[in-house]
Amino acid sequence: SSTPRCILLALLLLKATSFVCLLQGWVRSARAQKVNVFLHVNDGSSLQSLQVVAGAELNDPLLTFGSAVEVSGILQESPHEKQPLELQADSIRVIGECDPVDFPFKVKKRHGLEYIRQFPHLRCRTNAFSSLLRIRSEATSAIHSYFKDNGFVQIHTPIITSNDCEGAGELFQVEPAGADEHFFSVPAFLTVSGQLHLEATAGAFSKVYTFGPTFRAENSQSRRHLAEFYMVEAEISFTQSMEDLTKVMEDMFRSATEHVLARCVEDVDLFHRHVTPGHRVNSMLKKSFPVITYTEAVDILTRSSEQFAFPSDWGCDLKTEHEKYLVKHCGNVPVFVTDYPYDLKPFYARDNQDGPRHTAAAVDLLVPGVGELCGGSLREERLSVLRARLEQYLDLRRFGSAPHGGFGLGFERYLQCLLGVDNIKDVIPFPRFSRSCLL
Ligand code: 4AD
Repeated sequence: SSTPRCILLALLLLKATSFVCLLQGWVRSARAQKVNVFLHVNDGSSLQSLQVVAGAELNDPLLTFGSAVEVSGILQESPHEKQPLELQADSIRVIGECDPVDFPFKVKKRHGLEYIRQFPHLRCRTNAFSSLLRIRSEATSAIHSYFKDNGFVQIHTPIITSNDCEGAGELFQVEPAGADEHFFSVPAFLTVSGQLHLEATAGAFSKVYTFGPTFRAENSQSRRHLAEFYMVEAEISFTQSMEDLTKVMEDMFRSATEHVLARCVEDVDLFHRHVTPGHRVNSMLKKSFPVITYTEAVDILTRSSEQFAFPSDWGCDLKTEHEKYLVKHCGNVPVFVTDYPYDLKPFYARDNQDGPRHTAAAVDLLVPGVGELCGGSLREERLSVLRARLEQYLDLRRFGSAPHGGFGLGFERYLQCLLGVDNIKDVIPFPRFSRSCLL
């Protein structure tokens, strides 16, 4: 199973003119003529389908759009310029029929993302969603490679935990069905962040990361929130300043994006052809990402003539509309906003101890089309400042504490930014959100 381009390359390398080949895949189009039958069969390895040519005797009324087939024959160079290879079939077997009337996708019709979202079990059979899942897989590898290449140790942080790291109370509780006492003796939840486990391990490995499912009971139908999403989190010990964090976030974004753009040209193009060139992710990589403080951000918002639905005074949380405006103001590139009001950030963010406009050393990375992509902070490593807070957290400070910081990146939001996809439900195989847990 390989793309036609790879097969062509193999033919050239082997100096062969033909291959005996077994192709297993799904019919994308079928056309019967007097003497020949022409099929396009796609095996999911790329957007391209392979043309199959067979004598009319191999025609079968069950060779319809969507049916699963197994074709054997000779793979050879095709006389048609547009179609470098074709498979001259000796036999065609229909492995699984597909009723074209009931199948929700129609041959050669472009179905919108919103339409195909209604069929979570079948949508990977469309060009758009199969491209999306190949890109998602490649982006996952690229992120792991970035961390491996830069000396981070991967930690499998637990899915079940007794902490609410963010303190926002958006927890899914975990108990055996019908239990009348706590299975773990204490209330347990699906993780909202692996940060506290990363902080513990960063105390031994210096640079650690995790990349796994994360759960938040957010009662939201928004285009950028899910109840189950994938988060990439990193924690770095011996940080000197906020720059140590923003550098990793920016490098990771660039490295993963360049990797995907180089490896998934056709798949990415399928999305980018609907995005104006200046808004494509390529143009976000041209300059280094600007850094502004929260206070500067509030000044920009206050001075703008834009009518915002929510207040943007100092002390208010930045809403999506504010984040999108800031990104536009900075030239439609990713922008770091640092030093948020202390009261807006969780207990672990480092106190800047800076006068009446009290801030914490926290940072968000805002990106075009999406808004917040990453949230992070330098952590409060000073025992005296943390006293009276979490007992285990205090222990981490008692035994060999070093200044450290970390961040989390929402992987689905990254894919939205990478491809210009408006709705987060279109970049995850099986989306979970309030009132929806299909399949
Ligand atoms: O800003 P958040 O809440 O940060 C944390 O959880 C930190 N403990 C991470 C850390 O420092 N290790 O979440 C991080 C990112 C957000 O910027 C956003 O991209 C994504 O996770 N995110 C969501 N993505 C989809 N659906 C949701 N409900 C999300 N909530 C957060």
